[in-house]
Amino acid sequence: MHLLIATHNTHKTEEIAAMLGNLATVTDLTSHPDIPPADETGTTFEENATIKALEASKATSPNTLVLSDDSGLEVDPLSGAPGVHSARYASENATDAENRAKLLQELSATSTKGKDRTARFRCCMVLAQAGKKIAAFDGAVEGLIGTTEKGQSGFGYDPLFIPKGHCETFAELSSSTKNSMSHRARALEKIVAHLKQLTSKNS
Ligand code: IMP
Repeated sequence: MHLLIATHNTHKTEEIAAMLGNLATVTDLTSHPDIPPADETGTTFEENATIKALEASKATSPNTLVLSDDSGLEVDPLSGAPGVHSARYASENATDAENRAKLLQELSATSTKGKDRTARFRCCMVLAQAGKKIAAFDGAVEGLIGTTEKGQSGFGYDPLFIPKGHCETFAELSSSTKNSMSHRARALEKIVAHLKQLTSKNS
């Protein structure tokens, strides 16, 4: 099976490829320069994941199975921000480092400490083919926001996110540990189960 991942974020593609193992091969939009980044005008992760999946699916052959991911960080003391705006929290073209700096600044203004800095990563994945949505599944991982950046792996808010049950951030944990519990892993598990069902029905 082959999946086109509707993203230009190669970190996401690498995580998805590692989690799928030999179940499917993947490519992403970095090998389709003709498909521009989708306008993420939705107000929920599912709306944005649907926009991304349908745009990529309409621009490719009807045989292409497309998988999109829309994800972000919800921080409770910030009333769920940055949420769907996670990639553009500090500004439209913000870097990951700028977004993390803005998060620490906003949190320090609330003077929320330690165990009250609760947060979760959320992800919605959508499967599409021939311009039609086939399925959508969610995943989430709970944790806390640290006070300083720690670790070098991963991307985005990983150096600030300490998953529940751990003392290290996602950026300090190995990629296989992150991939065993992440929001993306949990949504992908459901997608994989759905794909297996579809394949067994068609065989
Ligand atoms: P999207 O590409 O529009 O879905 O934006 C997702 C944004 O959420 C990323 O740019 C990151 O800032 C953040 N994000 C999503 N998943 C992760 C993750 O696994 N680790 C760290 N940050 C993430």
